[in-house]
This record gives sequence, C-alpha cells and structure tokens, in this order.
Amino acid sequence: MAEIVIVPDAAAAGALVADEIARLIRRTPDVVLGLATGSTPVPVYEALPERLQGLDLSSVRGFALDEYVGLDPAHPESYRSVIAREVIEPLGLDPARIRVPDGRLQGIQHAGEDYEAALGAAGGVELQLLGIGTDGHIGFNEPGSSFASLTRVKTLTEQTRSDNARFFDSIDDVPRHCITQGLGTILRAGHLVLLAFGDSKAEAVAGAVEGPVTASLPASAIQLHPHATVVIDEEAASGLRFADYYRYTFDNKPEWQGL
Ligand code: PGA
Repeated sequence: MAEIVIVPDAAAAGALVADEIARLIRRTPDVVLGLATGSTPVPVYEALPERLQGLDLSSVRGFALDEYVGLDPAHPESYRSVIAREVIEPLGLDPARIRVPDGRLQGIQHAGEDYEAALGAAGGVELQLLGIGTDGHIGFNEPGSSFASLTRVKTLTEQTRSDNARFFDSIDDVPRHCITQGLGTILRAGHLVLLAFGDSKAEAVAGAVEGPVTASLPASAIQLHPHATVVIDEEAASGLRFADYYRYTFDNKPEWQGL
C-alpha cells in the first residue's frame, strides 16, 4: 500500500516533494533522479531552486520517463526540450548527466535497450517522480502494459493524444508513438512519488490506489512497490474511499519517518 498524502493544493505538493529531493541531494550529491514531464511535476520543479541554493548540483544525474517518437528533439514540446527548459536550465544541472529516451526514428529499434543499459550503468533511479494519465498510465505505459515491461516503443491512446493536444497547435501534431520506461523499469526505482491534481485525475487515482492491481490500470502497479508515496490535492482525492484514514495517518506520522 502506498502512502497517500492529501494536500490543499499543487504548491503544497511541490514544496513537500522538493524538500525530499533537496534532502536526497544533500545526502548523495550524485543522486539519480527520475524526472517526469507534463503539467503535474511543474510545482516540484518550481519549488526546487529555493531549496537547492548553495548546493553543488554538478554531479546530480537524471533520467526522464519517456519521449515522443519521431518528433524533432529540437521541437519545443519534445520531452528533451521540456526537461531542458523546466529542469536543467533553471536548476543549472549538467546536461550531459540528464538523459531522455531517444525518440528519433534513426535507431529507434534499439533505443529502449540502450536506455535500460544507461539506467543500469547509473545504478538505477533513487526517487522517481510520476504523473498519472486520465487513462491510468504512468510514464506512457498505456492500459495493457505488462508489469514486467522495460523501456520500449508504445502506441499512445487517443485519450492521451487528446489530453496532450493542449501542448501542440492541433491534435494532428501529437505523435502517435512514444518510447517509455516500462512498468518493470519504474518499479525498480527506490522510491516512487506519484502526484495528481484536479478532478480529471480522481477516477484514475482511486483505481490506482484502491482498485485491483491490473494491467488495465497501469498506475495500479505502484501497489506492488515497497516505497510509494502518492501526493494529491483534494480534487484528485475525491474518489478515495479511505481518504479520512489517509489524512489521519499522515497527521499522526512520526516526524523521523520522512516521506
Ligand atoms: P499531466 O500528464 O501531468 O500533463 O496531467 C500526466 C501524465 O500523462 O502522466
């Protein structure tokens, strides 16, 4: 069972998770962070600079979850560009230490294997940030993804393409394929931190946290992880049966435990 933390708003979630990341970097300057894209992790990235002031970040390493296939890496909505703009540049990280799966068509056949090899060589991800799709995906592991899956090419659902159309001029510009860490890859990270905000995520969150563990709702894989934290606002928590218990548990949590 994951730990569920219900916070008043996205800024409070960002502060809580950024505190944890700052603690990790202080302890392990070459920590390997698992980075996510989309709207959800933005409050974490915004809260980080203040908390990282004065720390040497030159050896921090990072791996993004996923990338579109066939989108020019220089396109502003490629996840390579998004990670550069939202994480690498504002924090002043070393771009050579931050990897994003290679979605270029040239070499796509072995891009998944290459990414797994790089993750393995880095010793794995310590803290993995996750958003959740309205269809229950994590990374871009759409319904039906194997819990044992590793980084590979997947086909996006029409729901995901339509959810992500807001980042593009039109839905026709949203790629149909992606390369994503698998559920098996994600489950290897030391600590999973899944964030979700707003009503549109309530159903997926309730299924992931309280529903059956099923490949039909890929985020339910987090129930198999020994250290998963779910940080959500009241709207995203609105479908949870045991919300009062989660609040009570967090309010009475021993301080030494951390996240
Ligand atoms: P979002 O996407 O953060 O932009 O809502 C979440 C996801 O698709 O994982």
